[in-house]
Amino acid sequence: MSTAKLAVIVLAAGMGTRMKSNHPKVMHPLAGRPMIRHLMQTVAALAPERVVVVVGPGMDVVAQAVAPAATVVQTERLGTGHAVLQAKAALGDFDGTVLVLYGDTPLLTGETLGRMLENRNGPRNPAVVVLGFRPVDAGEYGRLVVGGEGLKAIVEWKDATDEQRSYPLCNSGVMALDGKRLWSLLERIGNDNAKNEYYLTDVVALARGDGACCSYVQGEAEELLGVNSRAELALAEAVVQRRLRAEAMAGGATLTAPDTVWLCWDTELGQDVVIGPHVVFGPGVSVGDTVTIKGFCHFEGCRIEKGAEIGPFARLRPGAMIDEGAHIGNFVEIKKATIEKGAKVNHLSYIGDARVGAKANIGAGTITCNYDGFDKSFTDIGAGAFIGSNSSLVAPVSIGAGAIVGAGSTITQNVEDDALGLARGRFEQKSGWAKRFRDLKNSRKNK
Ligand code: UD1
Ligand code: CA
Repeated sequence: MSTAKLAVIVLAAGMGTRMKSNHPKVMHPLAGRPMIRHLMQTVAALAPERVVVVVGPGMDVVAQAVAPAATVVQTERLGTGHAVLQAKAALGDFDGTVLVLYGDTPLLTGETLGRMLENRNGPRNPAVVVLGFRPVDAGEYGRLVVGGEGLKAIVEWKDATDEQRSYPLCNSGVMALDGKRLWSLLERIGNDNAKNEYYLTDVVALARGDGACCSYVQGEAEELLGVNSRAELALAEAVVQRRLRAEAMAGGATLTAPDTVWLCWDTELGQDVVIGPHVVFGPGVSVGDTVTIKGFCHFEGCRIEKGAEIGPFARLRPGAMIDEGAHIGNFVEIKKATIEKGAKVNHLSYIGDARVGAKANIGAGTITCNYDGFDKSFTDIGAGAFIGSNSSLVAPVSIGAGAIVGAGSTITQNVEDDALGLARGRFEQKSGWAKRFRDLKNSRKNK
């Protein structure tokens, strides 16, 4: 990557009316975090000297999402050229390359931006480098007017002639500009056009008029997808997921049906992890080496240590910690609980606000009753304990190490180490009772 001085301006003042949302467009998430954060990560990798994000009035959430980058407020949306001008005071006398990005184009790669910066710092030293692309459907994108010596102008679709509208090369919106010329170019942009906006795209023709050279670099249509609607948000999500799956596999995880696994931007997978079909990772999940995850599991905010076996159909919620070699089976929900080494919770259980000691065995249908309607309380299950099926452990309660709880018990008091805890109705048998009952019923029917 280039070592020349770099500043970045990100335009994000639009609400994105077509999203039909109360949230600013750039706050809509991709792989579990606001789309603007994806872009900011790409920007950070370029190690710019300064970053300024142009936001609209009242967009404090955007300012928080991009911190520590500076934000400036564009009070009136008068166009992309006007928006860039709002960053002037924040950039001061910066005279290196200024890269302009759009907050709603979050899939850009550092590799593509690197090529633009190389071009900008190359022998022709162009005043403006534009990132062009050839979308399948060029629609209403601005068009690049290209001549022998590079880029001549950008025409907005609304202002273009029929001939210009037929040009295949479109403006992605991404530009790298010479900081020494930028402000003088922007100050000369007018708004005498179809939208009465100050178009940033006019800088190309203005720079050419000054006798400066302008050029373009081509990018992939996929990474230049702009998000303007919920449908485009879903398309962008698909691209991000494809990238995350490829990274996961390149990192040594097996995804038997990659298209059905949904990853989060921060999902951490160890080596030789095997993930079956239809597994969803929410934010904050880390998985150690050699973990097996069978199909249809849902995870968020949890840690799974080396060699554990999870699923199928397991749900791990925030604060679940599954230690080495533990087994979590089907229809088991774990929340804010540690399942220590080699412990097993294999069937139909809810374990919340609890510790399950090493090698303990939790029978089918065990429930930790952690909530009494007012407070959450803790259940402590000692190492090697055995909880019989269909038991309710009413917290706060502790089951000692090596203790056994009889199946079907409702445990409301602590069970000592190595004791048997039993709390259920006593068994009673009435010989012949069922037959007498049926006979009585039949004799009434026949009357
Ligand atoms: C812009 C380009 C067009 C290009 C297209 C690619 C101009 C004049 N046109 O058109 O050539 O093909 O993007 O997607 O630049 N914004 C502000 N303040 C403003 C106006 C816009 O911050 O006053 C921000 C928006 O929030 C958005 C970005 O700038 O992130 C682009 O604005 P938008 O109005 O969507 O531009 P397009 O008409 O799509
Ligand atoms: Ca747009």
